[in-house]
Amino acid sequence: MRILAIETSCDETAIAVLSATKAKNPTITVEAHLVASQAALHAQYGGVFPNMAKREHARAILPLVIETLKKAKLYKKKAAPLSAAAEKRLRMLLEREPELLELFLSEIPRMARPTVDRIAVTVGPGLAPALWVGINFARALSLVWDIPVVPANHMEGHVLSVAVPASKKKFALSEKSLGLPAISLLVSGGHTEIVFAKKIGSYKLLGRTRDDAAGEAFDKVARMLELPYPGGPEVSRLAKDARIADLPKTLALPRPMLASPDFDFSFSGLKTAVLYHLRDLAATGEAIDANKKMEIAREFEDATCDVLVKKTLRAAEKHKAKHIIVGGGVSANAELRTRLSAAARASGISVTFPTKGLSTDNAIMIGLAGLFGKPAPISSKKLIAQGNMEL
Ligand code: KG4
Ligand code: ZN
Repeated sequence: MRILAIETSCDETAIAVLSATKAKNPTITVEAHLVASQAALHAQYGGVFPNMAKREHARAILPLVIETLKKAKLYKKKAAPLSAAAEKRLRMLLEREPELLELFLSEIPRMARPTVDRIAVTVGPGLAPALWVGINFARALSLVWDIPVVPANHMEGHVLSVAVPASKKKFALSEKSLGLPAISLLVSGGHTEIVFAKKIGSYKLLGRTRDDAAGEAFDKVARMLELPYPGGPEVSRLAKDARIADLPKTLALPRPMLASPDFDFSFSGLKTAVLYHLRDLAATGEAIDANKKMEIAREFEDATCDVLVKKTLRAAEKHKAKHIIVGGGVSANAELRTRLSAAARASGISVTFPTKGLSTDNAIMIGLAGLFGKPAPISSKKLIAQGNMEL
C-alpha cells in the first residue's frame, strides 16, 4: 500500500509518500517528504491570516507534489490528456482556487499517473480556508488518477508522529512501538489538549485549553517582545539565554489552572499578565532592554511548562498510563522536553517526543493517520473541512 499524504491545515504545505507492508503491525517506509513553510510570509504580519494561508497553499501544493514524487522516483513525463468531461469537473472542483486550477491543467496532463494506492488529506482540525485547498486538490487528483481519498485527523497525526525515527526512513508502527495506552499532550499553535490514547484510532479527550493554545500564547508574547513569528522558538531562545546568564528573578507570572482538578488549560490570562507587566514597566519609565525581555521570556516559559508538565503527569497517574506522548509545534520546546522527561522519570513513566523536524506540521504524520487512523474512508465527494474536528 502506497499513500500520498497532503497537509494544509495551517501555514505549512506538506506532502509525503509513504508505503506500508501490511495492515497489522506494519513496517512503514517514508519514500519522500517535503514541507513548504509560509512562516516567512506570515512573519511580516505577526500571525497567520487564513485567506493568505489559503492562497499560498494553492500556489505551493502542485509544485510540491511533483517535487515529492520526483524524490520518491514516482514521477514520469507522459502525455496524459484530460477528457473534456474531466476538465469540466476539475473546473468546478477548483473554482475557488483559479491559480491552482491553471497549474493543474498545465502539469497533470504531462505526467503519468504515479503508482499510488491512496491519497490521505487532512480534513481537520485547522483553518477552514486552508483545509479546503488540500481537500479540493486531493479530490482533483482522485478524479484524474482514480485513486481513493482517505480523510486524516491532524491531531491524530501529531500523536502518531512519535513513531517516526530520527532517520525518517523505515520504522514499525504498532501499539507497542507507540507505547499505548498512553497520555498524549498535544500542544500547537491552534490546540492544547490532553488525550488518553488507548489504541491506534481510539482516543478520549480529557481536557483542552479554554482560550488560547500554548503555541498561540508563545506567539503573542513574542509579538509583545517585538520578536518575529513564529514566536515559540524565539521566546525559548531568550529564556535559555536568561538561564545561562542566571538573571535574578524579579517577575512572578501566574500559573493558570495549575490547581484545578480537571485537565483543562487557560493561557490567555498568562499572556495578559505579560502585557500588564510591560505596561507597568513603560509607565514607570523603566527601559525594556534585552535583559528585561530575557527575564520575561524565561518566566513565561517556566509558567507555561509548570502547567503543562503538572497536568500531563496528573492525567498519566489518574489513568495509570506508563507512557506519555507529546506532539505539536510546542513539543519542540527544549525546556518542556527537559522538565517533562525529568518529572515523568521520577514517577516511573516514559515520554516520547517527535524527532527533529516532526514536532511541527508535516505530511508523514498525515500519511500515518490516513493509513491507520480513526476516520473511516469515505467517498471523496463527501470530504469536507472540519475546522473544529475532535479526536
Ligand atoms: O503544530 P504546529 O506546527 O502548527 C499548528 O498546528 O498550530 O505548531 C506551531 C506552533 C507555533 O505557535 C510555534 O510558535 C510553536 O508551535 N513552536 C514552539 C517552538 N517551536 C514551535 N513553541 C515553543 N517552543 C518552541 N521551540
Ligand atoms: Zn499541528
